[in-house]
Amino acid sequence: MDAIEIEGGLPLSGEVSVSGSKNAALPMIAASLLAPGRSVFQEVPDLADIRTLGRLLGHMGAKVGRGDGSEPISPSLPPPPRGEPIPVGQPASRTFHVDASNLEKAEAPYELVKTMRASVLVLGPLVARFGRARVSLPGGCAIGARPIDQHLKGLEALGAQITLEGGYVIATAKRLKGATILFDLPTVTGTENLMMAAALADGKTVLENCAREPEIIALGEQLRAMGANITGEGTPLITIEGVDELKPANATVIPDRIEAGTLLCAVAIAGGDVLVKRAPVQHLEAALAKLREAGTSFTSESGGLRVRAPARPDAVDVITAPYPGYPTDLQAQLMALLSVAKGASRVVETVFENRFMHVNELQRLGADISVDGHTAVVKGVPRLSGAQVMATDLRASASLVLAGLRAEGKTTVSRVYHLDRGYEGLEKKLTSLGARVRRVPGN
Ligand code: EPU
Repeated sequence: MDAIEIEGGLPLSGEVSVSGSKNAALPMIAASLLAPGRSVFQEVPDLADIRTLGRLLGHMGAKVGRGDGSEPISPSLPPPPRGEPIPVGQPASRTFHVDASNLEKAEAPYELVKTMRASVLVLGPLVARFGRARVSLPGGCAIGARPIDQHLKGLEALGAQITLEGGYVIATAKRLKGATILFDLPTVTGTENLMMAAALADGKTVLENCAREPEIIALGEQLRAMGANITGEGTPLITIEGVDELKPANATVIPDRIEAGTLLCAVAIAGGDVLVKRAPVQHLEAALAKLREAGTSFTSESGGLRVRAPARPDAVDVITAPYPGYPTDLQAQLMALLSVAKGASRVVETVFENRFMHVNELQRLGADISVDGHTAVVKGVPRLSGAQVMATDLRASASLVLAGLRAEGKTTVSRVYHLDRGYEGLEKKLTSLGARVRRVPGN
């Protein structure tokens, strides 16, 4: 397993560009299952999670590839148990294509779902277009139990018969029928699954208490380009008039607000002056507000957002919340920053029940953090010192890399396959900004 080694203490400078959004690309690619024919996507980041989805669609019989088709994504099973290191060398093309004209099986096997929960995004499209889906239950994951009851409740309301058998959800329906569905809580992939399912249902569906993330708006635009009749995405109320069929559509993936926020936190913690190109400022309001409170300054320039960091950040309190609140996916990175702040900060995690696994690892670097339930109190220390630490999930990994940029001496982050799920060459981007970060290949 690869590790990342960081020699801390260097400020960052220069320019860096934000890749396409993982969490926007995943549902858009899943939506290609709704129509026969070839969909082509631009700005699709080369990430382990995108490969997993590609493999999943390939397993079902879709034709999936990158670039001009000469870079096929292997449909073979099972995938590598620990994700897949991104090969060094030529970067993969950002063009990704799927042709779901013919599917042999409407099935998402355990081997793939267990490596990526977002595989559940195929459930809605499969049952809507093929009348049947067999998708492994995702089970718990590092950041919490993460049930899919809202996805299933919604599909049932649309008339699907749902049974659970041998760890699999089996959903069947002759044709889904529009209905009004009130989500108990705003769920991102739940909203996306139901938008896709309802697009091909008979009649009108009203989704209430929807998640409002920018990735949902991106999916709505994709579905409309495919011929869906959908309004309200980005608000709590989404209305969909089902149509009889959809056609494939080409789309460009929006920049990744979480990667952008991670890069901003990297500059804030390491110090320096960096132009973050393609930063989706309009999707980063809550993150920018907190970083500003911590003393970081931003100026919009043509082509990007310039970020300048103070020598030491100020303490800030933060509560994670569904969009437009402060994103849970940037909580660990902000905590790394606050660990060296002047004063004490309170970090409250309200979205997931167990998203503080980075705390123990940050403590190994010298951070002073105590956790009580959903609240962490971070008492800023003047310095961190390098140590060996272990990544536990995607965003926790990023926070450890960021802390390593600030820590004196060498920090080694192991289990970086987590990082490869969601960051496209983070170590290369940081190196290009002057950080000393390198990947150490595992055995
Ligand atoms: N929940 C339920 N029942 C459901 C669905 C969700 O109780 O049926 C709960 C979850 O357990 C959680 C809360 O609702 O406590 C919100 O979860 P949500 O469903 O919104 O999360 P998700 O759709 O599984 C997406 C992102 C996550 C991100 C969350 C929250 C994708 C592919 N994943 O997950 O991204 O943290 O929304 O914003 O879009 C990441 O990229 O690192 C990541 C984990």
